[in-house]
Amino acid sequence: MRAADISDQLTSVLVTEEQIHDKLAELAARVDSDYEGKELILIGVLKGAVMVMADFARQLQRDITMDWMAVSSYGAGTKSSGVVQIRKDLDTDLHGKHVLIVEDIIDSGLTLSWLLENFASRGAESIEVLALLRKPEAAKVEIDCRYVGFDIPNDFVVGYGLDYAERYRNLRDVAVLAPHVYS
Ligand code: PRP
Repeated sequence: MRAADISDQLTSVLVTEEQIHDKLAELAARVDSDYEGKELILIGVLKGAVMVMADFARQLQRDITMDWMAVSSYGAGTKSSGVVQIRKDLDTDLHGKHVLIVEDIIDSGLTLSWLLENFASRGAESIEVLALLRKPEAAKVEIDCRYVGFDIPNDFVVGYGLDYAERYRNLRDVAVLAPHVYS
């Protein structure tokens, strides 16, 4: 589904599918070069990162391994608590591995901040982050993100893996959700 198919539910399109694919190709070329001669594992954070992982991984011109982690924030009822619960852990031992975490979005940065610390304690050789989207105005902690797709405003965005109440993940573009949908 494209943004034009549900234009009555969106206020604006921030990034089109074409722009996303061009950017992922650019980031993949950088990753190909940065990790030349090194074994690389991509770790996707479910569920939002599914689309980015699928498209980014296939742009690489090398072999990688892939694993997934599912986490959810809890405590004080909001994700802003920064407390993270593991819903599905990795199947892979990270000892001595070069890890690239693949995320759809860095919002407050709290999820990644926790994940980076958690992965570091598992003995990874190196850990870097690739995020398709980042909201600089929403940052509560600074994340050292080596590969960033697009910096976007602090709006309620959906699409390309990002949801509102589990909907809109299959929208091909990234768009701002119209307030009448969630208010
Ligand atoms: C989203 C996104 C990141 C996190 C970013 O996941 O995929 O993992 O929030 O937010 P933060 O920077 O404020 O921590 P969400 O918890 O919505 O789960 P989902 O991927 O299953 O939609």
